[in-house]
Amino acid sequence: MLVLGIESSCDETGAALVRDGRVILANALASQAEVHARYGGVVPEVAARAQLTAVIPVIETALAQAGVGWGAIDAVAATYGPGLAGPLLVGLTAAKTIAFARGLPFIGVNHLEAHIYANWLAEPPAPDPRFPLLSLLVSGAHSELIVIRDHGDYRILGQTRDDAAGEAFDKVARLLGLAYPGGPSIQRAAAAWPAGQPLPLRLPRAWLKGTHDFSFSGIKTAVMQLVERTRAQGAVVDVPAVAAAFQEAVVDVLATKTVAAARTEGAAEVALAGGVAANLALRARLARDLQRASIPLRYPPVALCTDNAAMIAGAAYFHLARGERADLTLDVQPGLALPVG
Ligand code: KG4
Ligand code: ZN
Repeated sequence: MLVLGIESSCDETGAALVRDGRVILANALASQAEVHARYGGVVPEVAARAQLTAVIPVIETALAQAGVGWGAIDAVAATYGPGLAGPLLVGLTAAKTIAFARGLPFIGVNHLEAHIYANWLAEPPAPDPRFPLLSLLVSGAHSELIVIRDHGDYRILGQTRDDAAGEAFDKVARLLGLAYPGGPSIQRAAAAWPAGQPLPLRLPRAWLKGTHDFSFSGIKTAVMQLVERTRAQGAVVDVPAVAAAFQEAVVDVLATKTVAAARTEGAAEVALAGGVAANLALRARLARDLQRASIPLRYPPVALCTDNAAMIAGAAYFHLARGERADLTLDVQPGLALPVG
Protein backbone atom coordinates (compact mmCIF):
# COMPACT_ATOMS: atom_id res chain seq x y z
CA MET A 1 0.00 0.00 0.00
CA LEU A 2 1.51 3.31 -1.13
CA VAL A 3 0.50 6.19 1.16
CA LEU A 4 0.91 9.89 0.39
CA GLY A 5 1.54 11.62 3.71
CA ILE A 6 1.41 15.38 4.26
CA GLU A 7 2.85 17.23 7.27
CA SER A 8 2.18 20.91 7.97
CA SER A 9 1.76 21.27 11.74
CA CYS A 10 4.40 23.95 12.26
CA ASP A 11 7.13 25.47 10.11
CA GLU A 12 7.95 22.54 7.82
CA THR A 13 5.90 21.52 4.78
CA GLY A 14 6.38 17.87 3.98
CA ALA A 15 5.04 15.36 1.48
CA ALA A 16 6.16 11.73 1.37
CA LEU A 17 5.38 8.47 -0.35
CA VAL A 18 5.84 5.45 1.90
CA ARG A 19 5.17 1.80 1.10
CA ASP A 20 3.55 -0.37 3.80
CA GLY A 21 4.52 2.00 6.63
CA ARG A 22 8.20 1.12 6.29
CA VAL A 23 9.83 1.90 2.96
CA ILE A 24 10.33 5.55 1.95
CA LEU A 25 10.02 6.17 -1.81
CA ALA A 26 10.09 9.95 -1.45
CA ASN A 27 10.34 12.39 1.44
CA ALA A 28 10.19 16.03 0.34
CA LEU A 29 10.47 18.89 2.80
CA ALA A 30 10.33 22.66 2.52
CA SER A 31 11.63 24.30 5.67
CA GLN A 32 10.77 27.80 6.76
CA ALA A 33 13.50 27.83 9.40
CA GLU A 34 15.21 30.75 7.67
CA VAL A 35 12.01 32.78 7.62
CA HIS A 36 11.56 32.35 11.37
CA ALA A 37 15.24 32.52 12.31
CA ARG A 38 15.18 36.30 12.54
CA TYR A 39 12.30 36.17 15.06
CA GLY A 40 14.01 33.44 17.12
CA GLY A 41 10.89 31.29 16.90
CA VAL A 42 7.89 30.40 14.76
CA VAL A 43 5.35 33.14 13.95
CA PRO A 44 2.05 31.28 13.37
CA GLU A 45 0.54 33.57 10.71
CA VAL A 46 3.79 33.72 8.77
CA ALA A 47 4.01 29.93 8.98
CA ALA A 48 0.46 29.48 7.63
CA ARG A 49 1.16 31.67 4.60
CA ALA A 50 4.40 29.87 3.85
CA GLN A 51 2.60 26.49 4.08
CA LEU A 52 0.12 27.68 1.47
CA THR A 53 2.76 28.50 -1.13
CA ALA A 54 4.83 25.38 -0.39
CA VAL A 55 2.28 22.58 -0.19
CA ILE A 56 1.56 21.90 -3.90
CA PRO A 57 5.21 22.16 -5.06
CA VAL A 58 6.29 19.86 -2.21
CA ILE A 59 3.71 17.21 -3.18
CA GLU A 60 4.85 17.45 -6.81
CA THR A 61 8.47 17.11 -5.68
CA ALA A 62 7.61 13.94 -3.75
CA LEU A 63 5.92 12.39 -6.81
CA ALA A 64 8.93 13.30 -8.96
CA GLN A 65 11.37 11.89 -6.37
CA ALA A 66 9.50 8.59 -6.32
CA GLY A 67 9.14 8.62 -10.09
CA VAL A 68 5.43 7.76 -9.89
CA GLY A 69 2.21 9.42 -11.05
CA TRP A 70 -0.93 10.24 -9.05
CA GLY A 71 -2.36 6.86 -10.07
CA ALA A 72 0.20 5.02 -7.91
CA ILE A 73 -1.19 6.46 -4.67
CA ASP A 74 -3.42 4.07 -2.69
CA ALA A 75 -4.33 6.34 0.24
CA VAL A 76 -3.81 9.88 1.52
CA ALA A 77 -2.91 10.99 5.05
CA ALA A 78 -2.23 14.29 6.77
CA THR A 79 -1.48 15.56 10.25
CA TYR A 80 -4.65 16.93 11.91
CA GLY A 81 -3.04 17.85 15.26
CA PRO A 82 -1.44 18.85 17.51
CA GLY A 83 0.10 21.98 16.04
CA LEU A 84 -0.68 25.47 14.82
CA ALA A 85 -4.24 25.79 13.46
CA GLY A 86 -3.43 27.79 10.31
CA PRO A 87 -0.51 25.64 9.14
CA LEU A 88 -2.40 22.41 9.98
CA LEU A 89 -5.39 23.53 7.94
CA VAL A 90 -3.27 23.88 4.79
CA GLY A 91 -1.91 20.31 4.74
CA LEU A 92 -5.14 18.72 5.93
CA THR A 93 -7.20 20.52 3.28
CA ALA A 94 -4.72 19.55 0.54
CA ALA A 95 -4.91 15.90 1.62
CA LYS A 96 -8.70 15.83 1.84
CA THR A 97 -8.98 17.48 -1.58
CA ILE A 98 -6.70 14.90 -3.21
CA ALA A 99 -8.57 12.03 -1.51
CA PHE A 100 -11.93 13.42 -2.65
CA ALA A 101 -10.83 14.16 -6.20
CA ARG A 102 -9.25 10.74 -6.70
CA GLY A 103 -11.70 8.72 -4.61
CA LEU A 104 -8.96 7.47 -2.28
CA PRO A 105 -9.12 6.40 1.37
CA PHE A 106 -8.16 9.21 3.73
CA ILE A 107 -6.86 9.20 7.30
CA GLY A 108 -5.93 11.98 9.75
CA VAL A 109 -2.73 11.39 11.71
CA ASN A 110 -1.77 12.41 15.23
CA HIS A 111 1.61 14.16 14.88
CA LEU A 112 2.89 12.74 18.20
CA GLU A 113 2.09 9.17 17.23
CA ALA A 114 3.85 9.79 13.90
CA HIS A 115 7.05 10.85 15.66
CA ILE A 116 7.06 7.50 17.50
CA TYR A 117 6.40 5.51 14.29
CA ALA A 118 9.38 7.20 12.62
CA ASN A 119 11.30 4.46 14.46
CA TRP A 120 10.00 1.87 11.99
CA LEU A 121 10.91 3.75 8.82
CA ALA A 122 14.00 1.77 8.03
CA GLU A 123 15.65 -0.01 5.17
CA PRO A 124 15.69 -3.01 5.35
CA PRO A 125 12.33 -2.96 7.14
CA ALA A 126 12.72 -2.85 10.93
CA PRO A 127 11.33 -5.71 13.05
CA ASP A 128 7.85 -5.13 14.51
CA PRO A 129 7.58 -3.07 17.71
CA ARG A 130 7.98 -5.08 20.90
CA PHE A 131 5.44 -4.28 23.61
CA PRO A 132 5.30 -2.92 26.23
CA LEU A 133 7.23 -0.20 24.50
CA LEU A 134 8.40 2.90 26.35
CA SER A 135 8.74 6.04 24.26
CA LEU A 136 10.56 9.20 25.26
CA LEU A 137 8.94 11.79 23.02
CA VAL A 138 10.89 15.03 23.13
CA SER A 139 10.17 17.81 20.65
CA GLY A 140 9.71 21.56 20.47
CA ALA A 141 6.32 21.31 22.12
CA HIS A 142 6.35 17.98 24.00
CA SER A 143 8.36 16.05 26.59
CA GLU A 144 6.57 12.86 27.45
CA LEU A 145 7.27 9.35 28.70
CA ILE A 146 4.65 7.10 27.14
CA VAL A 147 3.93 3.43 27.74
CA ILE A 148 2.58 1.69 24.65
CA ARG A 149 1.01 -1.73 25.27
CA ASP A 150 -0.12 -2.26 21.66
CA HIS A 151 -0.66 -0.23 18.49
CA GLY A 152 -2.87 2.69 19.53
CA ASP A 153 -2.78 1.85 23.26
CA TYR A 154 -0.99 4.78 24.92
CA ARG A 155 -0.60 5.78 28.56
CA ILE A 156 1.20 8.98 29.50
CA LEU A 157 3.54 8.13 32.37
CA GLY A 158 5.09 11.56 32.78
CA GLN A 159 5.30 14.90 31.03
CA THR A 160 6.79 18.33 31.35
CA ARG A 161 5.29 20.70 33.87
CA ASP A 162 6.53 23.77 32.02
CA ASP A 163 8.82 24.03 28.98
CA ALA A 164 9.30 21.17 26.54
CA ALA A 165 12.87 19.88 26.13
CA GLY A 166 13.20 21.30 22.59
CA GLU A 167 11.73 24.59 23.76
CA ALA A 168 14.45 24.77 26.43
CA PHE A 169 17.11 24.16 23.75
CA ASP A 170 15.57 26.92 21.60
CA LYS A 171 15.30 29.44 24.46
CA VAL A 172 18.79 28.79 25.80
CA ALA A 173 20.24 29.05 22.26
CA ARG A 174 18.59 32.44 21.97
CA LEU A 175 20.09 33.56 25.32
CA LEU A 176 23.52 32.51 24.04
CA GLY A 177 23.04 34.32 20.72
CA LEU A 178 22.90 31.05 18.76
CA ALA A 179 20.72 30.47 15.69
CA TYR A 180 17.19 29.00 15.61
CA PRO A 181 16.40 26.12 15.79
CA GLY A 182 18.37 25.94 19.00
CA GLY A 183 18.88 22.18 19.33
CA PRO A 184 21.38 21.73 16.50
CA SER A 185 23.06 25.07 17.40
CA ILE A 186 23.59 24.03 21.02
CA GLN A 187 24.83 20.61 19.98
CA ARG A 188 27.35 22.25 17.64
CA ALA A 189 28.47 24.82 20.25
CA ALA A 190 28.80 22.12 22.92
CA ALA A 191 30.97 20.04 20.58
CA ALA A 192 33.47 22.94 20.59
CA TRP A 193 34.13 22.21 24.28
CA PRO A 194 37.21 19.93 24.35
CA ALA A 195 36.10 16.32 24.96
CA GLY A 196 37.13 14.99 28.35
CA GLN A 197 37.96 18.40 29.79
CA PRO A 198 35.90 19.04 32.98
CA LEU A 199 33.25 21.73 32.61
CA PRO A 200 33.79 24.94 34.61
CA LEU A 201 30.11 25.04 35.64
CA ARG A 202 27.25 22.74 36.57
CA LEU A 203 23.64 23.66 35.84
CA PRO A 204 20.69 22.55 38.03
CA ARG A 205 18.64 19.43 37.32
CA ALA A 206 14.95 19.23 38.28
CA TRP A 207 14.45 15.61 39.36
CA LEU A 208 10.82 15.87 40.59
CA LYS A 209 11.48 12.70 42.58
CA GLY A 210 8.73 10.12 42.85
CA THR A 211 7.23 11.18 39.50
CA HIS A 212 8.06 10.60 35.84
CA ASP A 213 7.51 14.31 35.12
CA PHE A 214 10.01 16.83 33.78
CA SER A 215 10.66 20.54 34.32
CA PHE A 216 13.02 22.62 32.19
CA SER A 217 12.15 26.20 33.12
CA GLY A 218 14.57 26.26 36.07
CA ILE A 219 17.61 25.47 33.97
CA LYS A 220 16.58 28.09 31.42
CA THR A 221 16.38 30.68 34.21
CA ALA A 222 19.76 29.56 35.57
CA VAL A 223 21.36 30.15 32.15
CA MET A 224 19.65 33.54 31.86
CA GLN A 225 20.99 34.65 35.26
CA LEU A 226 24.46 33.35 34.43
CA VAL A 227 24.53 35.27 31.14
CA GLU A 228 23.27 38.47 32.81
CA ARG A 229 25.77 38.19 35.66
CA THR A 230 28.67 37.57 33.29
CA ARG A 231 27.75 40.52 31.06
CA ALA A 232 27.22 42.81 34.08
CA GLN A 233 30.81 42.04 35.07
CA GLY A 234 31.92 43.07 31.59
CA ALA A 235 33.08 39.52 30.90
CA VAL A 236 32.39 37.38 27.82
CA VAL A 237 30.11 34.34 28.10
CA ASP A 238 31.96 31.07 27.37
CA VAL A 239 29.36 29.79 24.89
CA PRO A 240 30.81 26.28 24.36
CA ALA A 241 31.06 25.72 28.14
CA VAL A 242 27.50 26.90 28.86
CA ALA A 243 26.09 25.01 25.86
CA ALA A 244 27.89 21.83 26.96
CA ALA A 245 26.77 22.22 30.60
CA PHE A 246 23.18 22.82 29.49
CA GLN A 247 23.15 19.84 27.13
CA GLU A 248 24.72 17.64 29.80
CA ALA A 249 22.09 18.61 32.40
CA VAL A 250 19.12 18.07 30.08
CA VAL A 251 20.49 14.76 28.78
CA ASP A 252 21.20 13.63 32.36
CA VAL A 253 17.58 14.19 33.43
CA LEU A 254 16.01 12.74 30.26
CA ALA A 255 18.18 9.62 30.29
CA THR A 256 17.97 8.94 34.03
CA LYS A 257 14.17 9.26 34.08
CA THR A 258 13.77 7.15 30.93
CA VAL A 259 15.87 4.30 32.28
CA ALA A 260 14.00 4.38 35.61
CA ALA A 261 10.64 4.28 33.81
CA ALA A 262 11.80 1.48 31.50
CA ARG A 263 12.75 -0.61 34.53
CA THR A 264 9.55 -0.03 36.52
CA GLU A 265 7.36 -0.65 33.47
CA GLY A 266 9.28 -3.73 32.37
CA ALA A 267 9.71 -2.23 28.90
CA ALA A 268 10.60 -4.68 26.11
CA GLU A 269 12.31 -1.81 24.31
CA VAL A 270 12.64 1.98 24.37
CA ALA A 271 11.92 4.20 21.36
CA LEU A 272 13.30 7.72 21.28
CA ALA A 273 11.21 10.17 19.24
CA GLY A 274 10.75 13.85 18.35
CA GLY A 275 13.17 16.56 17.26
CA VAL A 276 15.34 16.32 20.37
CA ALA A 277 15.88 12.61 19.58
CA ALA A 278 18.31 13.93 16.94
CA ASN A 279 20.63 14.97 19.76
CA LEU A 280 23.75 12.83 19.60
CA ALA A 281 24.63 13.25 23.28
CA LEU A 282 21.15 12.05 24.28
CA ARG A 283 21.36 9.03 21.97
CA ALA A 284 24.80 8.05 23.24
CA ARG A 285 23.90 8.43 26.92
CA LEU A 286 20.63 6.48 26.58
CA ALA A 287 22.32 3.76 24.55
CA ARG A 288 24.95 3.34 27.27
CA ASP A 289 22.54 3.38 30.22
CA LEU A 290 19.95 1.11 28.60
CA GLN A 291 22.60 -1.37 27.54
CA ARG A 292 23.59 -1.67 31.20
CA ALA A 293 19.93 -2.39 31.98
CA SER A 294 19.78 -4.88 29.03
CA ILE A 295 16.90 -2.97 27.41
CA PRO A 296 17.14 -2.38 23.64
CA LEU A 297 16.98 1.21 22.35
CA ARG A 298 15.67 2.42 19.00
CA TYR A 299 15.90 5.85 17.49
CA PRO A 300 15.05 7.12 14.02
CA PRO A 301 17.73 8.38 11.62
CA VAL A 302 18.55 12.03 12.44
CA ALA A 303 16.66 13.38 9.41
CA LEU A 304 13.47 11.57 10.50
CA CYS A 305 13.55 12.84 14.11
CA THR A 306 12.45 16.37 13.27
CA ASP A 307 9.17 17.08 11.49
CA ASN A 308 8.77 15.26 8.18
CA ALA A 309 6.00 13.67 6.15
CA ALA A 310 7.43 10.14 5.92
CA MET A 311 6.50 9.61 9.57
CA ILE A 312 2.92 10.74 8.81
CA ALA A 313 2.58 8.24 5.95
CA GLY A 314 4.26 5.60 8.14
CA ALA A 315 1.87 6.02 11.06
CA ALA A 316 -1.11 6.26 8.69
CA TYR A 317 -0.36 2.83 7.26
CA PHE A 318 -0.89 1.08 10.61
CA HIS A 319 -4.37 2.67 10.86
CA LEU A 320 -5.30 2.05 7.22
CA ALA A 321 -4.16 -1.58 7.49
CA ARG A 322 -6.66 -2.03 10.34
CA GLY A 323 -9.39 -0.75 8.02
CA GLU A 324 -9.69 2.66 9.67
CA ARG A 325 -10.80 5.60 7.50
CA ALA A 326 -11.45 9.24 8.41
CA ASP A 327 -14.40 11.23 7.17
CA LEU A 328 -13.67 14.20 4.91
CA THR A 329 -15.34 16.41 7.51
CA LEU A 330 -12.35 15.81 9.82
CA ASP A 331 -11.14 19.19 11.12
CA VAL A 332 -7.80 20.29 12.57
CA GLN A 333 -7.30 19.72 16.31
CA PRO A 334 -4.48 22.05 17.43
CA GLY A 335 -4.62 20.71 21.00
CA LEU A 336 -4.82 17.00 20.10
CA ALA A 337 -3.19 14.70 22.67
CA LEU A 338 -2.22 11.08 22.31
CA PRO A 339 -5.23 8.82 22.67
CA VAL A 340 -5.03 7.39 26.17
CA GLY A 341 -5.78 3.67 26.03
O1 KG4 B 1 9.70 17.40 16.37
P1 KG4 B 1 10.14 18.73 15.94
O2 KG4 B 1 10.75 18.90 14.58
O3 KG4 B 1 8.96 19.75 15.99
C1 KG4 B 1 7.94 19.66 16.93
O4 KG4 B 1 7.01 18.88 16.70
O5 KG4 B 1 8.10 20.36 17.96
O6 KG4 B 1 11.13 19.25 17.05
C2 KG4 B 1 11.78 20.48 16.95
C3 KG4 B 1 12.62 20.66 18.18
C4 KG4 B 1 13.22 22.06 18.28
O7 KG4 B 1 12.98 22.55 19.57
C5 KG4 B 1 14.70 21.81 18.04
O8 KG4 B 1 15.54 22.74 18.70
C6 KG4 B 1 14.88 20.42 18.58
O9 KG4 B 1 13.71 19.73 18.19
N1 KG4 B 1 16.07 19.75 18.03
C7 KG4 B 1 17.13 19.37 18.76
C8 KG4 B 1 18.10 18.85 17.86
N2 KG4 B 1 17.57 18.94 16.60
C9 KG4 B 1 16.33 19.48 16.72
N3 KG4 B 1 17.35 19.44 20.08
C10 KG4 B 1 18.54 18.98 20.54
N4 KG4 B 1 19.51 18.50 19.75
C11 KG4 B 1 19.35 18.40 18.41
N5 KG4 B 1 20.32 17.94 17.63
ZN1 ZN C 1 7.11 17.34 15.63
